[in-house]
Amino acid sequence: MYKCALILAAGQGKRIKSDLPKVLHKVCGKEMVNHVIDTLRKGNVEDINVIVGKGAELVKENTKARNVSYSLQEEQLGTGHAVKCAIDFLKNKKGTVAVFNGDAPLIKEETIEELFKAHKESGNSATILTSILDDASGYGRIIRNENEVLKIVEHKDCNEEELKVREINSGMYCFEIESLVECLDNLSNDNSQGEYYITDVIGMMKEKNEKVGALVINYEETLGVNSRVQLAEVEAILRKRINNKHLENGVTIIDPNTTYIGIDVEIGQDTIIYPGNVLEGNTVIGKNCLLYPNSRINNSIIGEDVEIQSSVILESEVGNNTTVGPFAYIRPQSVIGKNVRIGDFVEIKKSTIGNNTKVSHLTYVGDAEVGEGCNFGCGTVTVNYDGKNKNKTIIGNNSFIGCNTNLISPVTVEDNTYIAAGSTITNDVKSGELAVARAKQRNIEGWVDKKGLIKKK
Ligand code: UD1
Ligand code: CA
Repeated sequence: MYKCALILAAGQGKRIKSDLPKVLHKVCGKEMVNHVIDTLRKGNVEDINVIVGKGAELVKENTKARNVSYSLQEEQLGTGHAVKCAIDFLKNKKGTVAVFNGDAPLIKEETIEELFKAHKESGNSATILTSILDDASGYGRIIRNENEVLKIVEHKDCNEEELKVREINSGMYCFEIESLVECLDNLSNDNSQGEYYITDVIGMMKEKNEKVGALVINYEETLGVNSRVQLAEVEAILRKRINNKHLENGVTIIDPNTTYIGIDVEIGQDTIIYPGNVLEGNTVIGKNCLLYPNSRINNSIIGEDVEIQSSVILESEVGNNTTVGPFAYIRPQSVIGKNVRIGDFVEIKKSTIGNNTKVSHLTYVGDAEVGEGCNFGCGTVTVNYDGKNKNKTIIGNNSFIGCNTNLISPVTVEDNTYIAAGSTITNDVKSGELAVARAKQRNIEGWVDKKGLIKKK
């Protein structure tokens, strides 16, 4: 069945006190509006129109990978006015449209499917997702007569009786497009905020004797974010939900309260995660990994049986059985092979490191292609920048790079070579060669005594 939706994302978000449009604030690493888009898609809603206004270009920029269309609300005159701005999207359509606020990221895909189903089965003109909150302040209240929904009254327009109502409007609805469009023309802004409210449509439909209804769901899914306090609350709920999913899939998380996993991260069974890990973006972690404390891994693919400790890995790949850290920094576009050792205070930038290679301590490898089975001594540096250009270092298989070697790029070190410790390598090294590039040692006999430098007791 074809399904379409509008997402309201044009508001300023005054209460969040930010230069960034509110819907671009992130929850568990993803912008709120993108949570809503992705969940709608998972709930089989294909055709999505996002209404943009405040920071329109930024919102478009941050959602464009998701293949949605846009409507522009130049002036933010309220949620009802926002829906009206999407009239071009609605006018040639028949049937049902979902309307969702862009600031409520906790809704689940199953609930979206239930909403469409309940709406269709009931023959309603509008079906609202609602919930019961202990503290309903700030939300629109669902006003009922016996069991029937009569209207929604915004918090600021409630009388004393209405303020006591704890059933709230989530800002998520299904509407029959034709009845919705009819009502849009008759909205008024005669209310305490002087805005055109989409919520008024409910009362208008009811007065026309059309059926409206509500689906009451778990309060957590309906929470909207207006302030940074609510942003942190929603973050904590989603974090717990994500961590529970991984726990249920067979991942050990020693302290879920201090483990931060993005919503799109995948983790294999029997991986153990210690406190203080931050896993972001589209990161994939294989089975049986040990993530010791305090790493940040962003948009990276980590194999199986990998051990990582106190390190930062960005947009890179790490092969099976490899160990990283403590205190390693793997920068974007690096590909680390299998059974590799990237040790303490090692930085790898835009380089490939072949299987079984060891880069154990205090080393910088940038813009390099390193083969298999190599050993880097402590303090090796690829000198990849000549002040103008970044140049490449190529190292073959089974090469031994002595401690404190400088590899002045562009330079190639072939297979099966040795470089003496302390060398500064400016010329290529051919297969089978030992390269020594340092001043010869000279010892001057009796020098200390002659200078009178022997310390007296
Ligand atoms: C809205 C509902 C309220 C509901 C609550 C749920 C109305 C009038 N009120 O209130 O009943 O309980 O959500 O969280 O709808 N927006 C626009 N253009 C505008 C104004 C807002 O696109 O002119 C967008 C905002 O970007 C936001 C969404 O609509 O994503 C909701 O706006 P907001 O101002 O947060 O509405 P609430 O006061 O929370
Ligand atoms: Ca809101």
